[in-house]
Amino acid sequence: MIEVRNIHKAFGEKTVLNGIDLSADAGQAVTLIGPSGTGKTTLLRCINLLDAPAEGSIEIDGVKVTATDVNKKNALALRRKTAMVFQQYNLFRNQTVLQNVIQPQVLVKKTDKKLAEQRAFTFLEQVGVQDLAKAYPSQLSGGQQQRVSIARAWHLIQR
Ligand SMILES: Nc1ncnc2c1ncn2[C@@H]1O[C@H](COP(=O)(O)OP(=O)(O)OP(=O)(O)O)[C@@H](O)[C@H]1O
Ligand SMILES: [Mg+2]
Repeated sequence: MIEVRNIHKAFGEKTVLNGIDLSADAGQAVTLIGPSGTGKTTLLRCINLLDAPAEGSIEIDGVKVTATDVNKKNALALRRKTAMVFQQYNLFRNQTVLQNVIQPQVLVKKTDKKLAEQRAFTFLEQVGVQDLAKAYPSQLSGGQQQRVSIARAWHLIQR
C-alpha cells in the first residue's frame, strides 16, 4: 500500500508540487496523466526520495518517511520498496539547451554559429521550450528534454 500525503516541492522560485495526495492499494495500477513539465516525474522522484520534498510524508508497505525527518536509514528502507524506469534522451549533460541544439550543426556541418543560433531558437520555439535555452538538461522535465532532442534533430537535418 502507498500513502502519499501533502507533498510540496519547488525548484528555486518555481513551485512544482503543491500539496499532492495519492493512495494506491497493493496490486492496483495507478497512472499519472498531465501535460509535459507539470510534475509527474518530480512526484515519483519525491516518492523514492531521489528528490527531497520540502513537506509531506510517504508511506509504502508500512515504511513511513516524513519530509522533515529524512535520514540515510529511512531513505534506504523506502527505496528498497520502489523501482523506477527513467526517461532519457541523451542530451549532453554539461551543455545548455541552446548548446545542445547548435553544437552538432556547428561541429559537423560547419554552420556559422550566429546562423545556427538563430535557427536553434526557431526550432526551440516550435517545440515550446525557447524559455529554457539557458537551462541544463538536468533542470528539464523528461518531455522538455525530449522536445530539445527533437529540436536538435530538426536542426541537424537543415542544409
Ligand atoms: N532539477 C531541476 N531544476 C530546476 N527545475 C526542474 C528540475 N527538475 C524539474 N524541473 C522543472 O520542474 C517541472 C516539472 O518537471 P517534471 O520532470 O516533474 O515534469 P513531468 O510532468 O514529468 O513532465 P514530462 O511529461 O515532460 O516528463 C518542469 O517545469 C521542469 O522544468
Ligand atoms: Mg516526466
